[in-house]
Amino acid sequence: MTEDNLSSHLDRASLAPDPEFTAHANGTQAMYAEAEADHEGFWARQARERITWARDFDQVLDWSNAPFAQWFVGGELNVAYNCVDRHVEAGRGDKVAFHFEGDQGDTRTITYADLLAEVCKTANTLASLGVGKGDTVAIYMPMIPETVFTMLACARIGAPHSVIFGGFSAEALHTRIADANAKLVVTTDGQWRRGKPAPLKMAVDEAVDHGGAVSPVEKVLVVQRTGIEVRWTEGRDVWWHDVQPGQSSTHEAVPHDAEHPLFILYTSGTTGKPKGIFHTTGGYLTQAAYTNAVVHDVHPETDVYWCTADVGWVTGHSYIVYGPLANGATQVLFEGTPDTPHQGRWWEIVEKYGVTILYTAPTAIRTFMKWGHDIPERFDLSTIRVLGSVGEPINPEAWLWYRKYIGGDRAPIVDTWWQTETGAIMISPLPGVTTLEPGSAQRPIPGVSAEILDDEGHPFTEPEKVGYLVLTKPWPSMLRGIWGDPDRYVDTYWHRFGPEYYFAGDGAKYDANGNIWLLGRVDDVMNVSGHRLSTAEIESALVSHHAVAEAAVVGASDETTGQAVVAFVILRSEATDEAAADEDGMIASLRNHVAKEIGPIAKPRSVMVVPELPKTRSGKIMRRLLKDVAEGRDIGDATTLADSSVMALIAKGLGKG
Ligand code: PRX
Repeated sequence: MTEDNLSSHLDRASLAPDPEFTAHANGTQAMYAEAEADHEGFWARQARERITWARDFDQVLDWSNAPFAQWFVGGELNVAYNCVDRHVEAGRGDKVAFHFEGDQGDTRTITYADLLAEVCKTANTLASLGVGKGDTVAIYMPMIPETVFTMLACARIGAPHSVIFGGFSAEALHTRIADANAKLVVTTDGQWRRGKPAPLKMAVDEAVDHGGAVSPVEKVLVVQRTGIEVRWTEGRDVWWHDVQPGQSSTHEAVPHDAEHPLFILYTSGTTGKPKGIFHTTGGYLTQAAYTNAVVHDVHPETDVYWCTADVGWVTGHSYIVYGPLANGATQVLFEGTPDTPHQGRWWEIVEKYGVTILYTAPTAIRTFMKWGHDIPERFDLSTIRVLGSVGEPINPEAWLWYRKYIGGDRAPIVDTWWQTETGAIMISPLPGVTTLEPGSAQRPIPGVSAEILDDEGHPFTEPEKVGYLVLTKPWPSMLRGIWGDPDRYVDTYWHRFGPEYYFAGDGAKYDANGNIWLLGRVDDVMNVSGHRLSTAEIESALVSHHAVAEAAVVGASDETTGQAVVAFVILRSEATDEAAADEDGMIASLRNHVAKEIGPIAKPRSVMVVPELPKTRSGKIMRRLLKDVAEGRDIGDATTLADSSVMALIAKGLGKG
């Protein structure tokens, strides 16, 4: 059978849950009715059953100051205690928390007892460097165990962390450090990428020094990962190996208020300034643990769970660190890339550790499809029993391929819709309960309520009609705001359709069976390989280049990455000669400039130099028309353009006129 006709051979009966699976599943059909009947009671039960509280809460939800929620009011807990200590206290200290696989093929086995010792030493280290409750810590590190130790040490102390993905540039790091007022940065000398060391601390130096400006950063704690040469600032920089190993391996986990800030995570919005989404303690941990149990169906005694996301993104926070560790799971932590040293690297790891649950992104699945199913077929993947997808819509073809070649035509796939803002999974099938529909995230999980609204803000249920996804009830792991900008929080999420609807920014529709299909962003946010990027942020990076007068960026469909960044620029008159002399050089310089300003993940796939940009009479760039150009389509309705000849000019300039 070729991969093109997977769907025509689909045995739909096989999409119903297997009774054997259902018999042992954590999620149940009854949970839907239970949550429906008593929303707060349902969540209170999850909180009390899954989390150990130092002080029980007095009130489940305080929504009196909506949209600023407080969950589990009066409750006190320590997240690190819940993720680590209590498993050791319960006699499970010898259980493996992480099977670490390094990029170089180096490995480490970390038990819960090891994890406890390391987290305590790290907490003592942070304290010795002056970090106390309420101080923010920036973490700019690769996928290594020390990153997890640091996050948990922060949680233990009550110092909110801000993890910045290692693919972001010094400039991006600088803005995020300044916005969160981070006192300490934890980093590594370098990171391994496809067998080669690449500098990492260098960007921290640049971000902190930033042209001599005053920085909130007092100390930089550096893990030696690659041995790459580093510049050292005496008095500020501290080697991890000089301070952490000698610390005491005990540290008291004092309880924190349920609403104490746990972390800030920056994500792109519709403006040039990234938003510091902030999450708190009790509600976040409750929903991360609950969803990891009922959606991924983690059974800590028997499963080996592997989430391939980077800890720099929310998926890594909720589904490598907090959810699975709260549940006492055994996990794989992988530093490397899927094609180094060979394209079967992931499947080799699945076979080696007997991975039972795999959670990854559609971009990765589409890449594997391109490489061919003969590669996974060389490995024993028979241990896999649940597959997950996250980050962007998964097209039915990729879903079917994933199911057939990775899931042995039997493992249920959970397509999980959620966001940095929601903190945890919101819309997804429950394995063992839901009859699956390839390509659809299907329905809100028990405890979550969603609707689709039309342009006027009215909910509808007609199939195939496209509308806007909204969430209609507060949920425990919801963001508590945007760091330092409460107005932007209200405006962005609670304004478009009024204060009773959280506007997610995604388009959605129902099918004839009432399943929800997510259709991508409806705002100026792109999704490239499951990474969120803002058109405005890339445009502002482009116009900061000396040659650029104006820029417009769109996300064009891309077979592998979902969307790809395509930029249109108008050059300054003084730069046109330079561009005429060496157009390729100019384009390379523009692409590299974006990589420098934001990070390699934001580098445009292509940059087109144009004489004009299509604008409405009010001056708004009509990105829809540029998208038509970028995707090679005939140009759509251009009648609202201020100057209707512009599109002809662009087409002509691109050699299509
Ligand atoms: O557009 C949706 C898409 O990713 C956005 C959230 O991005 P981020 O905050 O970076 O979090 C990604 C990991 C949770 C959403 O607004 N998205 C995420 N998951 C799905 C999805 N789109 C369709 N289906 C999904 N399963």
